[in-house]
Amino acid sequence: MRIKYKSQDDLLKLRESGLAVSEILDDICAAAVPGATTWDLDQIARAGIDRLKLTSAFLGYATPPYPAVLCTSVNEVIVHGIPRKEEVLNSGDIIGIDFGTYLHGFCGDSARTVVVGGSTSPEKQKLVDVTRESLEKAIALCYPGNRLGDIGHAVQTHAENHGYSVVRTFVGHGVGRQMHEDPPVPNYGRAGTGKRLKSGLVIAIEPMVNAGARQVEVLGDEWTAVTQDRSMSAHFEHTIAITENGPWILTQAAPSPGSP
Ligand code: MF3
Ligand code: CO
Repeated sequence: MRIKYKSQDDLLKLRESGLAVSEILDDICAAAVPGATTWDLDQIARAGIDRLKLTSAFLGYATPPYPAVLCTSVNEVIVHGIPRKEEVLNSGDIIGIDFGTYLHGFCGDSARTVVVGGSTSPEKQKLVDVTRESLEKAIALCYPGNRLGDIGHAVQTHAENHGYSVVRTFVGHGVGRQMHEDPPVPNYGRAGTGKRLKSGLVIAIEPMVNAGARQVEVLGDEWTAVTQDRSMSAHFEHTIAITENGPWILTQAAPSPGSP
């Protein structure tokens, strides 16, 4: 598959889709409190999909078909945790909440990690903060002429400078009429290498950062990806358009350098 560069009209649709994802993620994150179940969070996501007339990008995806509209990845779960009625959130858990939908035929894909019950554990809060910062540093490099390797390098160096590791098994991706388009966007790499970013490119950057080693194990449900050493893991993701003026963070309500 080749990279599909987006027109101005495509970008406006991608923005609407991204804003819808961001709005619903706000609701889901606010509901990630002690005593809630990950199933409750999936229900909130479904209500948001209905309210805003969206289509889930996750439900039925791939093989075996993903069974929910949300990924809820608690503590040592890196990504693709499946919401469950019996999974109750406790104060001090960290939960990665990953949500993707289609609107007007275009995808929005975004994830955040929150500490349940506020910051009770400085250690977990640090992992979450460093992971979010690694995404911010990568986004700050989303200007035409920079390279994919610059993005991976920014994520990797920030995480590793804090003693963490970055997952290599899963990577970010292009976003458009499909959730997963070319190019792959690794969270590691060498500065000054890889494909050059061009205006009209839309990518999801999604650092997955482990407190321990980077190795991944996928559980028997064929989805849940955990750290092999069962250390904590955090995940953030934004869908970003590369514009002449820099990054337009499509899945963030607040303005960014590339906003029109
Ligand atoms: N947002 C994730 C991704 O970019 C999750 C998709 S997995 C799914 O790949 F099965 F839930 F769709
Ligand atoms: Co993604």
